[in-house]
Amino acid sequence: MVAGLSVKRICKAFPDATGAMGFPVLKDISFDAKPGEFISLIGPSGCGKTTLLRIMHGLDTPTSGTIFSRDKKINAPAHDRAFVFQHFNLFPWRTVADNIGYGLEVRGDDRSARQDVVRKMVSLVGLNGFEKHYPHEISGGMQQRVGIARALSLNPDILLMDEPFGALDAITRERLQRDIADILARTPKTTLFVTHNMDEAIYFSDRILVFGTKPGRIVEEVIVPLQRPRQADVIRGSREFADLREHLWSLLSREMDL
Ligand SMILES: Nc1ncnc2c1ncn2[C@@H]1O[C@H](COP(=O)(O)OP(=O)(O)O)[C@@H](O)[C@H]1O
Ligand SMILES: [Mg+2]
Repeated sequence: MVAGLSVKRICKAFPDATGAMGFPVLKDISFDAKPGEFISLIGPSGCGKTTLLRIMHGLDTPTSGTIFSRDKKINAPAHDRAFVFQHFNLFPWRTVADNIGYGLEVRGDDRSARQDVVRKMVSLVGLNGFEKHYPHEISGGMQQRVGIARALSLNPDILLMDEPFGALDAITRERLQRDIADILARTPKTTLFVTHNMDEAIYFSDRILVFGTKPGRIVEEVIVPLQRPRQADVIRGSREFADLREHLWSLLSREMDL
């Protein structure tokens, strides 16, 4: 079977102030994601999670190594991949509907096709009635719903999410987590998800890649054996959840010198 995403021996270093290559940020990262698989990346700040996601999107290039989306080498952003940012990155001068339709516009879809997709996306993320609002007129949770709808509007194979709930309060975060899990159950995507939150990683993931730092590398791949559909409050009380959490905690505290 062709992998949804195949990451082969990625290394990344940035030039230092003198222009010489600095210490590697990412060293020898390799893994495959199956189509429809949900993989979380968890690890200390600065271990290169955002850098790796940017390389997967094609916004940055690796120093060495290659990433394939299906069997095509990634070297620039393309419509088979979409990115959801922690701080939403909406255009303040565009309405909710026009933000959601932005990628479709760039792709050159005609107006009526765009309107159709935007209508479906608005309803998928629960923003009916807010189409004509501007970002500053809606809450953070709703702004991230726009960010997610904008990403899904292109019907990407691969969804890249960089701490998408990191800027939200706990209640909004839980509600959005549940809604995203429902959406992905209906329209599965190969998803790479960066988070600091262990509970969130366990709730969503088929697999969790635990990263270490200096250089950023995968220290362990943790499989989440919990059946789907998952209900956050039910799995949280389970033995497997407690064991996974403890295991992740011990890996991360070792990496963070706690
Ligand atoms: N454009 C860049 N130029 C130089 N250094 C960078 C650049 N982007 C990231 N870095 C460095 O790479 C390391 C990893 O950053 P990042 O990928 O943002 O980590 P994480 O998302 O895991 O917190 C950090 O030390 C950061 O300072
Ligand atoms: Mg980051």
